[in-house]
Amino acid sequence: MAPLEILIVGCSIAGPALATCLLLSDVPVSQKPHITVLERSNGMRTEGQNIDVRGAGVTILRRLGIEKAVRAKTTREEGVRMVDSRNRTWGQFVADKSGKTSTPTADIEILRGTLAKILFQRARSVSDAVQAEGGHGVEFVWADTLDAIEQDGLKVHVHFAKSGKTKAFDLVVGADGLQSTTRSMAWGPQADDAVQKLAGGVYGAFFSIPAWEADEETLWRKWYHASGRRSIMVRPHEQRGRATAFMTVIADTDARLERAATNKNNTVAVQKALMKEYFGEAGWECERVVDDMMQSTDFYYDSIAQVKLDHWSKGRVVLLGDAGYCASAFSGMGTTLGLIGAWKLAGCIFQHPNDPQRAFDLYEARMQPTVALAQKLAPGFPRSLHPATDWGVWLIHAFVWVLWVSRVFGLLMKLGAGPPAHSVQVEETQVH
Ligand SMILES: Cc1cc2nc3c(=O)[nH]c(=O)nc-3n(C[C@H](O)[C@H](O)[C@H](O)COP(=O)(O)OP(=O)(O)OC[C@H]3O[C@@H](n4cnc5c(N)ncnc54)[C@H](O)[C@@H]3O)c2cc1C
Ligand SMILES: *[C@@H]1O[C@H](CO)[C@@H](O)[C@H](O)[C@H]1NC(C)=O
Ligand SMILES: *[C@@H]1O[C@H](CO)[C@@H](O)[C@H](O)[C@H]1NC(C)=O
Repeated sequence: MAPLEILIVGCSIAGPALATCLLLSDVPVSQKPHITVLERSNGMRTEGQNIDVRGAGVTILRRLGIEKAVRAKTTREEGVRMVDSRNRTWGQFVADKSGKTSTPTADIEILRGTLAKILFQRARSVSDAVQAEGGHGVEFVWADTLDAIEQDGLKVHVHFAKSGKTKAFDLVVGADGLQSTTRSMAWGPQADDAVQKLAGGVYGAFFSIPAWEADEETLWRKWYHASGRRSIMVRPHEQRGRATAFMTVIADTDARLERAATNKNNTVAVQKALMKEYFGEAGWECERVVDDMMQSTDFYYDSIAQVKLDHWSKGRVVLLGDAGYCASAFSGMGTTLGLIGAWKLAGCIFQHPNDPQRAFDLYEARMQPTVALAQKLAPGFPRSLHPATDWGVWLIHAFVWVLWVSRVFGLLMKLGAGPPAHSVQVEETQVH
């Protein structure tokens, strides 16, 4: 049997993880799939700040042989402190380093660009090794996208927008994130309805800034709430001298926020100006953060949403990671789902190499329970934590203070069923 020709669209977290899972499989080199990874940007993107890897996600990093490399680059965040406009701490929640409970700070906190780079380098070195044995490995294609996907039952025919080439693949995997165009091309424009905004319309901006001395004395994340459903976090960066910032705005009354996320005509300058308007005079350290935001070169803005589809495949096209089942930045589970999904999808493809439908159905059946748990946010969250009025902000602080001094928070976490990432079974090997 000829090896499978597989196209993976998107080279962030899930894309390179899948390429590595497929090539590490224990099959003869002549049977290893021929993989193309297509990325829209002109090389690995560096934007993105702190992301979490939890539970079974860490197991996958170990299986891929990069756990050590990843642990050497973590941000070492101690935990989360909630502060008010006068800089007083109303509550603090220490990170659970044992990885047994689901605290806001996860087992592994790392910058998105750093993890993506480690995954990419691993995919490339595994590919080099396969090529040295006479296999095909991975071909990376940068700075291009697809503008057509057609299926005839046996092959997926794709057209590359920039190079103008047409190529046929056995399988196409959309790992192109929340605003996936693989999804809209294979399912039709109605697939955009699968992107479900969190209640109230939630938007986020991520970037890095110079650290203040106090940011580095202890590596606590500081979380400040302003009225008008706004909050800002300042968090540890992997590099000394730098910190990361995360702004959240919840407003469905301001259409500019949505346009800035989805309309390709909106540049980073437009997005920054909008965030300056919301945070310029929001109190606490916002002035400093906004000034540094205007200078930042790694600014990233998006709507914060979830993706919910009835099925994750259409013929020979399948979705992986945020493209298929984004759980949103507030779940802390997006990266973990991308990693677990890559492992499981690779396993299912090897189990049914000649029957994509069965492979993809099995992937969905094995993955769906984890996704359902990860997408379950607390009722009204994050809107409930972003009040409109000063009085509402005070109430949140009082509530958090009670949790803190009564130690109820830690207890709740211990009594709970445990986070979804810890109950996931990951199959031992790729070939059964
Ligand atoms: C630049 C960036 C910054 C991010 N920052 C944060 C953050 O600070 N905090 C957080 O919690 N989450 C962030 N995320 C989301 C986070 O990476 C994901 O939730 C999670 O890691 C799952 O990743 P993924 O690989 O499924 O999708 P993503 O990480 O979204 O990756 C999708 C990849 O596909 C590429 N792509 C998109 N469309 C096309 C196309 N048509 N053709 C080819 N390639 C395409 C993108 O350039 C990107 O490299 C960020 C994502 C990106 C892309
Ligand atoms: C984006 O800009 C182009 C060229 O300026 C214009 O033709 C197009 O209509 C714009 N799209 C939107 C959605 O505004
Ligand atoms: C908050 O406290 C830190 C020191 O702990 C200080 O460096 C910083 O300037 C303070 N911020 C504000 C807004 O007062």
